[in-house]
Amino acid sequence: MTPKDRIIVALDVPDPDEARALIAKLGDSVGVYKIGLELLFEGGQDLAKELVAEGKRVFIDAKLLDIEATVERATAAIAKTGAHFLTVHATDTKTLDAAVRGRGDSALKLLGVTVLTNLDRADLSEQGIDMPPLALVQERARLAQRAGLDGIVASGKEAAALHERLRNFLIVTPGIRQQGTDTQDQTRAVTPTIAVEAGADYLVVGRPITRADDPRAAAQKIAEEIASAEV
Ligand code: C5P
Repeated sequence: MTPKDRIIVALDVPDPDEARALIAKLGDSVGVYKIGLELLFEGGQDLAKELVAEGKRVFIDAKLLDIEATVERATAAIAKTGAHFLTVHATDTKTLDAAVRGRGDSALKLLGVTVLTNLDRADLSEQGIDMPPLALVQERARLAQRAGLDGIVASGKEAAALHERLRNFLIVTPGIRQQGTDTQDQTRAVTPTIAVEAGADYLVVGRPITRADDPRAAAQKIAEEIASAEV
């Protein structure tokens, strides 16, 4: 994988036309395009198929969680789009096994969402879970690996702890900010260098690229930082 292939750009824009304009500006400076829930319900599904037809890699950030039959069929439907990555909540083995069955022999890679980074210990306690978030992240990452997922989404701060324990398991890290820039609402942001050194295989980058005056140049700068990070 070249450094730019490790950049997943979050297409957090309101409609497919804006997404297309952004993709045109980016050219081949990133490796994967992430379509989240907002864009999915504004024509994001057709955009996903269009990008796949152009030979681009697509990440469907649907964060599935439901009864097994529904998760299995939804995963199978998403696999048919030709997408490369799909997220599933890694809360329990039933959900994870259903997603693995649903992707069948397609090339879709499944990524587990362990604990959303906006939740702290008090939020977990509200759900009846008496555990620090990092311990729960590790527990759910183990469940995901055992079920046969391909990797997990983890913050830069969690990546190092997971990387030590989970071999041959992808770590996809959002909340990337370059040194000295605005962290916006990311409370646990890390630089591309720190994320790669912590063991991240892919970096999810939204606003630092999408809101840059020159998105392509911003992506290239991140790729250079990935290239020079020590692993
Ligand atoms: O603009 P920014 O770089 O903060 O965007 C990060 C992307 O990663 C967004 O699409 C956001 O939903 C996603 N994400 C995140 N934190 C997580 C999981 C996903 O920021 N824990």
